[in-house]
Amino acid sequence: MHTLDRATQRFQAEFATSPAAIVRAPGRVNLIGEHTDYNDGFVFPLAIDRAAWLALRPRADNCVRVISLDMADDQSFDLDDLPRPDATRWIDYIIGVAWALQRGGYPLAGWEGVLAGDVPIGSGLSSSAALELAAARAFYCVSDFDWDAAQMAQIGRAAENEWLGIQTGIMDQMISAAGVAGRALLIDCRSLETTPTPLPATTSIVILDTGTRRGLVGSAYNERRAQCESAARHFGISALRDIDLATFAKRADELEPVIRWRARHVISENERTLRARDAMLAGDAEALGKLMIASHTSLRDDFEVSSPALDAIVNCANADPSCYGARMTGAGFGGCAVALVRRDDAEDFSRRVGAGYESATGNTPALYVTRASAGATTIKSE
Ligand code: GLA
Repeated sequence: MHTLDRATQRFQAEFATSPAAIVRAPGRVNLIGEHTDYNDGFVFPLAIDRAAWLALRPRADNCVRVISLDMADDQSFDLDDLPRPDATRWIDYIIGVAWALQRGGYPLAGWEGVLAGDVPIGSGLSSSAALELAAARAFYCVSDFDWDAAQMAQIGRAAENEWLGIQTGIMDQMISAAGVAGRALLIDCRSLETTPTPLPATTSIVILDTGTRRGLVGSAYNERRAQCESAARHFGISALRDIDLATFAKRADELEPVIRWRARHVISENERTLRARDAMLAGDAEALGKLMIASHTSLRDDFEVSSPALDAIVNCANADPSCYGARMTGAGFGGCAVALVRRDDAEDFSRRVGAGYESATGNTPALYVTRASAGATTIKSE
C-alpha cells in the first residue's frame, strides 16, 4: 500500500474521521555539488519521489500529538513547554521545528495526526530533512503564517543544528522545501537563490543504495568542516566559495597537505557544479556524466569521504554501457550513490549493476529509478 494511504487509513482508524490536511515533504538525491553547501557554494540536488507524509487535523489546545507508523510509536508534547531533546528520538525533530518556528516569532497552533515515510532512514537520502519540512508544513496548515520555502528550510536546519545538535549545511532542507517536479535545482547556498533546471531528455536518475550505513559520519563531517574553515581563514576569505581554482593553484602550497586536498575538492566541486548547469542546459548527458565521475574521484581522493562499498557500486555503474556517470551522494562513508543513465535502459541497468555489486562485495544493494518531485506541499486541505 502507498505510504500516503497507510497514513490516511491509520488516521481514520484512530480519529474516526478523515484528516483535515495531508502534507508531504520529499527526501533528496544530490547530482553534484557535495560538501560545498557549508562553504557557501553551489549544490545541484533533486527532490525524489520518496517522502514523509503527515495526515493531520487541528486541535483545540496547544498540544501536538503524532503517531509514527514506521516507529510504531505515539508521542505528544505541549507547545507552551517544549521538552528538551532526549537522545534524538524521531519526535525531537518535530519538537525542534516547533522550537525554531516559535523562536522566529511564528504563532503556532496544536494538531494531531499520523506520520509515515518511505525515505529509507540513515541511507543518505535526507529522511531527517523530509521530516523537518513535513512538520513545518503541518504547523503551516493549522497556524496563521505565510509559507516561504527558504525560510522554512532555515527553520528545519535550525531544528537539526541547534535543537538536536547535529551539524548540516542547508542543502537537504532547501531541496525538501523548494524542489520542483521534473527539475533538478541549482542552489546558491549563500543567497539561497534556486534555479530549476531540466535534466537531459534521454536520461534517468538511478539511486544506488550500497546497503551499508554510515558510521561515525558526524565526527568526520565536523572535521571536514573545520578543515574547510581553516583553509578559508588562511586565504582571508569568509568561505571557500570566494576563491577560484586558478588563484588557489598559485597559493595551494601554502597549506599543509590534508587542508590543501580538502580545499581543492571544494573549490573544484563548485566549478564542476556550475559546469553541470551548462551541460544540463545544453542537454549534454555525456558532459554531465563526466563531471559526476570527476566529482566522485575528488570526494574519494581529496575529501576522503567515500568508502569501499561506495567505490565498488560507483565502479560497477561507471563500467556499464548505459551509464553516463555515477558518484557517491550525500555526506559519504556509506549510504547511496547516484547515476545518470540512458532512460530506455534504466531498469535493466539497475538489475545489472545491482547483481554485479552484490557478487563483488556480498552486500545487498537497493537500486531504484527516481523522478524529480515537488518540494513540501499540502496535498489535501479542508
Ligand atoms: C549532508 C548534509 C548536507 C551536505 C551533505 C554533503 O547531507 O546534511 O548539508 O553538507 O552532507 O554535501
